[in-house]
Amino acid sequence: MSRYLITSALPYINGVKHLGNLVGSMLPADAFARFQRARGHEILFVCATDEHGTPAELAAHEAGLPVDEYCAKMHLLQKDLGDRFALSFDHFGRSHSAQNHEITQHFYHQLDQHGLLEERTTRQVYSIDDKRFLPDRYVVGTCPHCGYERARGDQCENCTRVLDPADLIKPRSAVSGSTNLELRDSKHLFLRQSQMVSRLREWIDSKKDWPVLVTSIARKWLDEGLKDRSITRDLTWGIPVAYQGNVRPGFEGKVFYVWFDAPIEYVGATMEWAEASNGNWKRWWRQDAGGADVRYVQFMGKDNVPFHTVGFPVTLFGSQEPWKVVDYIKGLNWMNYYGGKFSTSGSRGIFMDQALELLPADYWRWYLLANAPESDDSNFTWEHFQATINHELADVFGNFVNRIAKFCGARMGGVIPEGGSYGALEAETTSALERRLAELTRLMEAMEFRKSAIELRSMWVIGNEYLQKAEPWMKIKTDAVSAGVAIRYSLNLAMVFAALAQPFIPHASARIAQAIGGKDGSLAWPAQIADSLSPGARIAVPDVLFAKIEPEQLTAWTQRFGGAAS
Ligand code: MF3
Ligand code: ZN
Repeated sequence: MSRYLITSALPYINGVKHLGNLVGSMLPADAFARFQRARGHEILFVCATDEHGTPAELAAHEAGLPVDEYCAKMHLLQKDLGDRFALSFDHFGRSHSAQNHEITQHFYHQLDQHGLLEERTTRQVYSIDDKRFLPDRYVVGTCPHCGYERARGDQCENCTRVLDPADLIKPRSAVSGSTNLELRDSKHLFLRQSQMVSRLREWIDSKKDWPVLVTSIARKWLDEGLKDRSITRDLTWGIPVAYQGNVRPGFEGKVFYVWFDAPIEYVGATMEWAEASNGNWKRWWRQDAGGADVRYVQFMGKDNVPFHTVGFPVTLFGSQEPWKVVDYIKGLNWMNYYGGKFSTSGSRGIFMDQALELLPADYWRWYLLANAPESDDSNFTWEHFQATINHELADVFGNFVNRIAKFCGARMGGVIPEGGSYGALEAETTSALERRLAELTRLMEAMEFRKSAIELRSMWVIGNEYLQKAEPWMKIKTDAVSAGVAIRYSLNLAMVFAALAQPFIPHASARIAQAIGGKDGSLAWPAQIADSLSPGARIAVPDVLFAKIEPEQLTAWTQRFGGAAS
């Protein structure tokens, strides 16, 4: 048995996440956590809301709430949506937690002790009309590298380069649009990450199995010359620049930069989990307390890669304590909506709450994972969504399970048939499925969800082809025993399929396991295609597992959300 620490990039607190966010980290992380749990491994899967920074402040202001109340409320909303999407976090925490305050200030202290922090006076953008310092991302302008006109002062989302607001051409305030900006002096703490370039490069070079998407972004950063970064901000909302209750002199009214404390919340969330469930967080995070045996896998969208290959490792290495660092990063591209970006600010695309108003979570999970933006960006359209659900879930998988269960219920008294034995057709089907199973297992280990979905679907197709050939509905008229054999074999396949589909469609899997196998809880990942049902046991016939999306629904949804035309 191995131990896996799995984290998903933390969703920002400011608003319900869209399906692009979901498929970009939380959902693939969940699929992997479910797979490894089913394999019998010990898993700790944590995530949290990322609550600090100006976006949270501004969103709270817009909602007319004090920022702490706003965050508490939005955290519950996001947690509930995560539950309803069956995201199986062991803990879903908050970067504003007391634990994260403590551990963030601990890292600050360690870095300070080891001479990695330096006070520098910076010239910072102050918006005269907004009467406030503007954080980097609230200064927008043209990217000096690629010419993108809405680049933010912290990073260009078009070319992913990290920027300084002063780099921007034609800067303006993102709060008000005002160009009435001036530079004022402000003192900040700089993390001397430039000193760690060779250590980071060695570390990245040792990761031979990492996706090129990830290592190429990391190398680009290192090659461009790593600048020291300010880790504090002129804001009130955030973690104070303090240690053991004492604010650092001159840093009153300042807090840590959100990108400093957010990844530390992976540790903070584990501490929250430990406190809530009497667990031991060090066993996951400290090499000197059992963490050396843990395989740590992070999931994130490509824009997050720099902060996880450079920023956070600098914090961990710089502390000079034996922290666990990531073993594997699964980076994802974007899923687009009709060829353009999903956008929270522009309300473009489909949001998690809206999705669940239309259809149960499994429909979305299947579509998103089967089209995960892995090797490249992928694209959501309602037409493609409808075709995927109708052909793959309703016609192929749902049909297989519902057909045999119904038949067993109607013609065999709902009892798993006894008698007779498997013949050449079953042997042939089993060996075809076992080849697929080996490949599916390999792909899931490799976190290749899109290819895994293809493999799984192929197994469902083999199940249907078996039924086509075995024809229990014909055989029952002349040879009840061989009809029974076909139904017994198929019901056992349904249980295998339910186990294999858990990472993708856990609700449907649980319904099948319960109805056909009388089993609650998760199923073990099968090593072979083998029977698990006792002949003579009773089954319940599940309701239709997946309903087709009708043309009227498609029309209504395309109109509501906008499609090609918008
Ligand atoms: N909130 C960030 C985003 O959505 C991700 C933060 S990941 C963390 O892009 F590691 F910093 F927490
Ligand atoms: Zn750019």
